[in-house]
Amino acid sequence: MASVLIFFSFYLMLFSTSFTTINGVFSDQSPMEISIKRMEKLTHLHFYFHDILDGTNPSAIRIVGPPKKSVSGFGSTFMIDDPLTEGPEASSKLVGRAQGMYALASQHDLGLLMVINYAFLEGMYNGSALSILGRNPALDTVREMPIVGGSGVFRYARGYALAKTVWFSPKSGNAVVEYNVSVLHF
Ligand SMILES: *[C@@H]1O[C@H](CO)[C@@H](O)[C@H](O)[C@H]1NC(C)=O
Ligand SMILES: *[C@@H]1O[C@H](CO)[C@@H](O)[C@H](O)[C@H]1NC(C)=O
Repeated sequence: MASVLIFFSFYLMLFSTSFTTINGVFSDQSPMEISIKRMEKLTHLHFYFHDILDGTNPSAIRIVGPPKKSVSGFGSTFMIDDPLTEGPEASSKLVGRAQGMYALASQHDLGLLMVINYAFLEGMYNGSALSILGRNPALDTVREMPIVGGSGVFRYARGYALAKTVWFSPKSGNAVVEYNVSVLHF
């Protein structure tokens, strides 16, 4: 009887030890079969991006000037909080905001480095965001940029954005850009 009790308390000790270990577990892998059970979705989004550099309330501000000796502004960096709207007019319905940075990363042409989160406000996408990290050859008619991730309904997101300037003022630098986004997510 005593030996059974001793065995039992040993068993409890072992069990509780392994339990603590599981609680503090650092990594865990599931077979792919389990993780692909949830169907991936393909979502298309269409919106307009308003980059406003002038006026009393600009949505894009230069935070790093072009360094001396810079070739055509190379190195200039802008922080943005640009409205995303349903239609091309500034008064059109707000569906999100593009928050992040772009920088002139090319010495040979207008090649922007885009590091921007697209935070959405509309319907089921409210509170969800997509992250773009890529190259934007801004003078090309249509530019493709990779979507490298997302949050909320866009967890595990990957895809691409196509962007086309629909209006540009050379005087102020203000621009309206049309976006078509295709994104896979769970
Ligand atoms: C989006 O969510 C925020 C915070 O939950 C809420 O205040 C806001 O009204 C929502 N907007 C829309 C358009 O549903
Ligand atoms: C976005 O898709 C619409 C509809 O297919 C098309 O008319 C428009 O030219 C596309 N724009 C871009 C930037 O891909």
